[in-house]
Amino acid sequence: MTPFIDPVVVGTDGSAGATAAVEWAADHAGLRGVPLRVVHAVDRLPYDGPRYPIPDCYDKLTPSGRQILDHAARVARNRRPGLVVTTQVTEGRPGRVLREQASGAAEVVIGSHGAGGFPGMLLGSVGNQVAGHVAVPVVVVRPTPTEAAAGIVAGFDCTETSGAALAYAFEEARLRGQRVRIVCAWEPPVPYGPVVATDLDGMRRAAEEYARGELRPWQGAYADVRTELDMVRGHPVSALAEASARAVLLVVGSHGRNAFTAAVLGSVSRALLAHARCPVAVVRGVLS
Ligand SMILES: Nc1ncnc2c1ncn2[C@@H]1O[C@H](COP(=O)(O)OP(=O)(O)O)[C@@H](O)[C@H]1O
Ligand SMILES: [Mg+2]
Repeated sequence: MTPFIDPVVVGTDGSAGATAAVEWAADHAGLRGVPLRVVHAVDRLPYDGPRYPIPDCYDKLTPSGRQILDHAARVARNRRPGLVVTTQVTEGRPGRVLREQASGAAEVVIGSHGAGGFPGMLLGSVGNQVAGHVAVPVVVVRPTPTEAAAGIVAGFDCTETSGAALAYAFEEARLRGQRVRIVCAWEPPVPYGPVVATDLDGMRRAAEEYARGELRPWQGAYADVRTELDMVRGHPVSALAEASARAVLLVVGSHGRNAFTAAVLGSVSRALLAHARCPVAVVRGVLS
């Protein structure tokens, strides 16, 4: 009996943003040697208004969903001949359908934008409804900034919760033959009481030494992957968004040091889903 291999799941609504996600997911499934499952959620809710019924429209949603899937499957197979591609049409709201699809998936891939939205919108609603809500990594695809983009950027805040994100970043780097740039943003405490003299250089050195110590086991386990540690003074969102402008992938944990367990997605990861310049993988770690 062949062992069951969890597929990469990608959601599509037929838009250009979703097609970019299908292409990314096909490449990734091919690299990892796993199948691809393309999913379309037939969302009847917007057509449910009893006041202004659109004749026939309701009945055409499922057949048009099948066309969207046929097109996506063609895109994936053309890009990766030999890739095992399956399709699935499911009724329901896209966010919920993709959350359900996550169990039994290796990861879930979606586009940063879909067929709705408005000009200037930074992130569609599905990204926020899936990232951080599921156990497997969620990749939100947006175009890579430049042809010259290289390297995988990993956000690292020196806590155990970064472990799953680092593991993903190092695995990706190994698969793609890329280097990992670990960005550790640090900020001196905001003085809200009496101003105390702070030795900023000393603080920076201590933070760097600590980060290097935490990273050593990873560099040992992935000795074939080139890594660099970037200590950036500033807010993690601006440091990581800026680093993402030259990267092929940004990897962040779903929670950081300041996590409170009720939040589904930490504030840094949430902001980066909107402001990053390249695809973002949100990897859920173990909450302490
Ligand atoms: N009906 C759907 N079925 C499956 N995936 C979807 C569906 N709608 C959106 N998605 C996924 O979510 C991504 C973002 O779309 P969305 O959040 O709806 O943005 P927008 O508001 O621009 O439509 C899409 O690129 C696609 O990957
Ligand atoms: Mg939409």
